[in-house]
Amino acid sequence: MPREISAPSLFQLGYYWEAKIFLTSVKLDLYTPLADGPKTAKQLADTIQSDPDALSRLLDALVSIGLLRREGEAYVNIPELAEFLVKTSRFYMGELMLLQDAEWDHWGKLEEIVKTGQPAVKDNIFMNHPELGATVSRVLHRMAKRVAPALAEKIDLSSYKTFIDVGGGGGAFSIAFAQRYPHLKITLFDLAQTLKVSKENIEHEQLHDRIELVEGNFNTGPLPASYDVVFASDILHYQTDAENAALIQRLYHATQPGGVVIIKDMFIGDDDSEPGWNAVFSIHMMVYSEKGRCFKGERIREWMTKAGFDHIVEMEKNTILAGTKGI
Ligand SMILES: C[S@@+](CC[C@H](N)C(=O)[O-])C[C@H]1O[C@@H](n2cnc3c(N)ncnc32)[C@H](O)[C@@H]1O
Repeated sequence: MPREISAPSLFQLGYYWEAKIFLTSVKLDLYTPLADGPKTAKQLADTIQSDPDALSRLLDALVSIGLLRREGEAYVNIPELAEFLVKTSRFYMGELMLLQDAEWDHWGKLEEIVKTGQPAVKDNIFMNHPELGATVSRVLHRMAKRVAPALAEKIDLSSYKTFIDVGGGGGAFSIAFAQRYPHLKITLFDLAQTLKVSKENIEHEQLHDRIELVEGNFNTGPLPASYDVVFASDILHYQTDAENAALIQRLYHATQPGGVVIIKDMFIGDDDSEPGWNAVFSIHMMVYSEKGRCFKGERIREWMTKAGFDHIVEMEKNTILAGTKGI
């Protein structure tokens, strides 16, 4: 169901101030020094070299938004949020917020993009800004680590021997499947710059003898073949309809007869505005990539059928489609 907007929330929506206050707090990295304990505005200003008065006003705004607490003169982290906002935390996602902040100017072009239909950028960060792309891979990895073990538990791969993770990024899913299925031989396929991040994570988990890294571009050269399980997560939304149709054809060739393909992405449901987050995320892709968008699950199913996959099932609503390749 679309969200209902009341008159007060209409103003909150238009006044994007809170978003920019939050992004700035991450950019200034206010939460990491507070991990050591409460600090006054003056102490924090000394730590991050800022103006104490301007900073104290920002800190009070953060308290009013609910991102910090105040105890007397001191400011304190909120533990459930600190898990994501303190740089040394396992689930730190500040880089993703920095990316949103870096997109600020692109969002200013939304009106022009809608009027002209012309993208404001070329390609996407993974292709154009490999260093930034690697940073994003690190944070996406930390986020994916929260869901990957549950997915590896949910999808039963005990009868399969080989697995390829196409556009596997930091490797969260390869790692989770390797840990859940110790007999599975895994290949992670991605661009060179991203593989540096995958390598760090896989070595950290001591899985380098179980997960092979293969460099390549999944839109051009052929994919390594052939695998019992071909897994592709969150790669379709960077590409055009035609590129994805061709990519799924490549995934078909990479699948062993009798094997399965598992495609995970942020689908648009039967109603074009649902799920709400995916419909809005699709605008984010329009703003910060040349061709990206979210696709309807039905469209992805059509590409899979056309490529030759059958027994296509939606394993998770608006998120995962799986199909098999006949023997
Ligand atoms: C959003 S990330 C998804 C990472 C991971 N699969 C996940 O679900 O967390 C997209 C990944 O696709 C990779 N990628 C983008 N374009 C690519 C291409 N043409 N060939 C190979 N990999 C590509 C990026 O390097 C990145 O790791």
